[in-house]
Amino acid sequence: MSNIKGKKRSACIAGTGSYLPERVLTNDDLAKMVDTSDEWIKTRTGICERRMAREDEATSDMAAVASRMALESAGVTALDVDIIILATCTPDMVLPNTACFVQEKIGAKKAFCMDIEAACSGFVYGMEIARNGIEAGAYDTALVIGAEKLSCIVDWEDRGTCVLFGDGAGAVVLKAMDEPGILASALGSDGSLASLLNVPGGGSRCPASERTLNEKLHFLKMEGNQVFKHAVRCMSEAGKQALERANLTMADVNWVIPHQANMRIIQAISDKVGVSIDRFVINLHKVGNISAASIPVAMDEAVRAGKIKKDDILLFVVFGSGFTWGASVLKWVL
Ligand code: UT7
Repeated sequence: MSNIKGKKRSACIAGTGSYLPERVLTNDDLAKMVDTSDEWIKTRTGICERRMAREDEATSDMAAVASRMALESAGVTALDVDIIILATCTPDMVLPNTACFVQEKIGAKKAFCMDIEAACSGFVYGMEIARNGIEAGAYDTALVIGAEKLSCIVDWEDRGTCVLFGDGAGAVVLKAMDEPGILASALGSDGSLASLLNVPGGGSRCPASERTLNEKLHFLKMEGNQVFKHAVRCMSEAGKQALERANLTMADVNWVIPHQANMRIIQAISDKVGVSIDRFVINLHKVGNISAASIPVAMDEAVRAGKIKKDDILLFVVFGSGFTWGASVLKWVL
């Protein structure tokens, strides 16, 4: 949609925020819980530590802190927000959606609110929905959040998964502007591979029961090495496709912000797409895999560290359960 000057409306990131819980869980702490070692975790994943939410701290609590920071850095108030999209696979409750809890906490009274469940890809999916609405003129200001309390779906006796995940939240304010912001995206899904990464119990297929508890079906299950291969291929291809749609090449990209699941995955993407690892934003060693919160937390840290400058081209690449994956290219306007 065009504004009165005839220019295309664009969705631009106007502010970012993030929150990590205080408690740090190190690799040595995990080695006391399961048969693993700091050396194995560091070598196979690149993760050194991750953050754990308090028992009384839910996904919306973390999301609200990140959201307030994002609103403040965007110079808008909660009352300016038209829509809240919250990406999570660890909602506060089955219903209502967690975005409604955030709305209540921050006082975004005029916003309409929804959650997106696309696992680790959720934040980029949410940005795409917000972008389309902004470009179409349906709304002007969107709050897009990725927030997870993965510690409550991790099996703390399964060394194949419990060493990987952490808790946290990141948020952005997207605003309608005349200058280009989000330039292009490429999203994809493949439901035929759902069994490689899922939480089988607690839904309508296998409702909560004594059996689901006894068989630990409420915990995350993953075929790690299968997921690994698909993650590298899908993120590399989506990144290339999104750039093509934006009429750009990898040489134009200042920063790649990848889903932070495994340093070997990030290195393999760097090799495959031909972008030096120095141009990747990486915080995996400190936070582990925080699913939908991964990209907004890494981005907020990079912005606050002064790494990202006006007119920089950023490329987000994500991959998660579903399988879901995607990439977005944007110009930094701040
Ligand atoms: O965010 C959504 C997307 N998720 C991902 O992208 C995760 C993708 N997958 C991965 O990051 C890796 O596959 C893992 C880090 C999960 C596992 O690394 P891997 O190199 O694929 O190891 P593996 O699963 O093939 O296991 C190799 C060995 C096995 O022992 P044997 O069978 O060779 O004797 C495992 O039992 O490593 C063993 N192992 C461990 N050893 C020590 C698995 N986990 C651990 C552990 N500590 N924590």
